Amino acid sequence: MSAIVCSHVDKAYGATSVIRDLNLSIEEHEFVVFLGPSGCGKSTLLRMLAGLEDISGGEVSIGGKVVNDLDPGDRGIAMVFQNYALYPHMTIFENIAFGLKRQKVPAAEIRKRVEAVSRTLGLDPYLGRKPTELSGGQQQRVAIARAMIKTPKVFLFDEPLSNLDAKLRNHMRVEIARLHQALKTTTVYVTHDQLEAMTLADRIVLLKDGVIEQIGSPAEIYRRPGNLFVAGFIGTPNMNFIEATVSRAENGWTLNGARTVISIEGRGFDLQHGERAVLGIRPPDLKTASGDAGGNLLLGTADLIEFHGNDALVTFGSGGKEISALVPARECPELRAPVRYAFDEESIHLFDVSTGMSLRKRAN
Ligand SMILES: Nc1ncnc2c1ncn2[C@@H]1O[C@H](COP(=O)(O)OP(=O)(O)O)[C@@H](O)[C@H]1O
Ligand SMILES: [Mg+2]
Repeated sequence: MSAIVCSHVDKAYGATSVIRDLNLSIEEHEFVVFLGPSGCGKSTLLRMLAGLEDISGGEVSIGGKVVNDLDPGDRGIAMVFQNYALYPHMTIFENIAFGLKRQKVPAAEIRKRVEAVSRTLGLDPYLGRKPTELSGGQQQRVAIARAMIKTPKVFLFDEPLSNLDAKLRNHMRVEIARLHQALKTTTVYVTHDQLEAMTLADRIVLLKDGVIEQIGSPAEIYRRPGNLFVAGFIGTPNMNFIEATVSRAENGWTLNGARTVISIEGRGFDLQHGERAVLGIRPPDLKTASGDAGGNLLLGTADLIEFHGNDALVTFGSGGKEISALVPARECPELRAPVRYAFDEESIHLFDVSTGMSLRKRAN
């Protein structure tokens, strides 16, 4: 049985439609991330699962039960927000215990459960302190402990790390991943940060304007983006896009654009002679070409070099188009030097210029 099912879910505020006919099924123990740009409806969708937001149309079920009209407290979920307001006048122990105390759980049982949760999250040394005596990361862990202690069927997280500095964010991301490995509680996690999504998710649900653009494992979404939006959203540095005209050739196809002619066999794609397509190549898939290299090349002049440590991002103009290659730093060219980058057919992506849909043949 699926842990969560959204069936034709709609959400509108007055005349403004925010989520449109959304269908999604989340399996038990799964870690699903809702990813998308700010304003695409991630929080709204999560809050509908939590019962904090009415559902305008369709059905949400949790654990096989339709919850549309169920109060948040009766849904078996626990939610952690970006603004994890702790009660400042209470100790950490009291903050974590608060929900159980309200449910009139006996004191001895509360103590046992607070101690168990605190141990899991490394909070036991701080139980007697007040929230202001804790760092941001420790406070965030208290917020997670407060959710965990309810032993929910489902955890919902809404950008829980976005108020933390970069180092702490990385640290907490690892802790959340570990926690899920240990507890296996079904989790839905909202973020606009693709790195968080890629590292945490079993599956990513990529949203744009209240519509699902693609659902898949991080690797599927990275390697096989279904359309231009997904291709452009996922992957840092961003994928290069070059518009090209597709023509039939003797042993396959040629793509003509950005002052380069590319020959491909094209077996993986559905192509039409004469059509315009967008060729996508990720910067790390461009390799420095040796002097006499044949095959497919992009040529240009290096006009921006960003040193990253191990790698360097080389941006070069080619046929009026800016293209970036991520190369090992030792292969970094001089500024203004001519550059030549090669790539394999396996690494390219092709999209329909008007619909933005991938031209890759569907795997059967
Ligand atoms: N209470 C509300 N009334 C009207 N519009 C809202 C309300 N809450 C959110 N919205 C709109 O719904 C859209 C999605 O918002 P939200 O779910 O918060 O996006 P995200 O979490 O992806 O950034 C936004 O365009 C936002 O302006
Ligand atoms: Mg949000």
